[in-house]
Amino acid sequence: MDNETKEALEPFIDLALITEVLYTVKSGKEATVYACRAHPDTGADMLAAKVYKNLKERSFRNDAAYQENRTLLYHNTRVKRAYQKGSDFGLDVHFLLWVGQEWEHLKTLYEVGVYVPVPVKNIGRVILMEYFGTEEGPCPILQHAKVPRERADELWRLIKSNVEMMLQADYVHGDLSPYNILVDLDEPGDPLRIIDLPQAVDARYNPNARDMLQHDVEVTYKYFEKLGVKDNPQSFVADLWRKWKRAEL
Ligand SMILES: Nc1ncnc2c1ncn2[C@@H]1O[C@H](COP(=O)(O)OP(=O)(O)O)[C@@H](O)[C@H]1O
Ligand SMILES: [Mg+2]
Repeated sequence: MDNETKEALEPFIDLALITEVLYTVKSGKEATVYACRAHPDTGADMLAAKVYKNLKERSFRNDAAYQENRTLLYHNTRVKRAYQKGSDFGLDVHFLLWVGQEWEHLKTLYEVGVYVPVPVKNIGRVILMEYFGTEEGPCPILQHAKVPRERADELWRLIKSNVEMMLQADYVHGDLSPYNILVDLDEPGDPLRIIDLPQAVDARYNPNARDMLQHDVEVTYKYFEKLGVKDNPQSFVADLWRKWKRAEL
């Protein structure tokens, strides 16, 4: 772990939330996720620290979803000008807004009962949350989970009810797929977590929300279709959207 990451995690040790970093779960293009030992006072055994990469390391500025969100973020013209000029100040403000968005989405969705990791704390470019896994390793993403046929219908139903809960709270995930769902088949009542929320949008204001919802549901259904689950994702989305519009959700 580099010194900058250590520095970013230090406040969580000082606040007695974690005691040590156990291993790296995954390093992606915009963030690295670490498995941490939780401080006993937290009541958890382990916690996950999602550490967004700093300016030098990241490449996500050109991400389409990120770019689209950009215009929504700037209420402050000075920040906007700085960003347009490509100055570090603009990029850093922008970047912290992006981390802050994921944190806000995580908190709201957790409060309304969506199966997201329990939010613990956000400081700077780090989000600390429930760890879905053990000391031996993280739970797999759906894409890599070996879901047996007899569990497939139940999991798909759960995912659809989570999509519905999100929309009820006016959210569309915007990047839902078998890569952003963690699965623990040994947890019968609680077998999944939906993760990776910075790009989630407010369906009341985002004109692309319906298309994003359709995409989220279709991409995720493909996985279950291969397992033999029969459903009609188009009519599910059409129904859901109509109910939401009529405030019937
Ligand atoms: N709370 C968590 N518990 C366990 N593993 C996690 C958790 N959050 C993320 N991960 C792991 O880290 C990976 C990257 O996290 P994610 O939020 O999807 O970031 P990104 O895809 O933007 O890099 C996930 O695919 C998953 O394997
Ligand atoms: Mg992801």
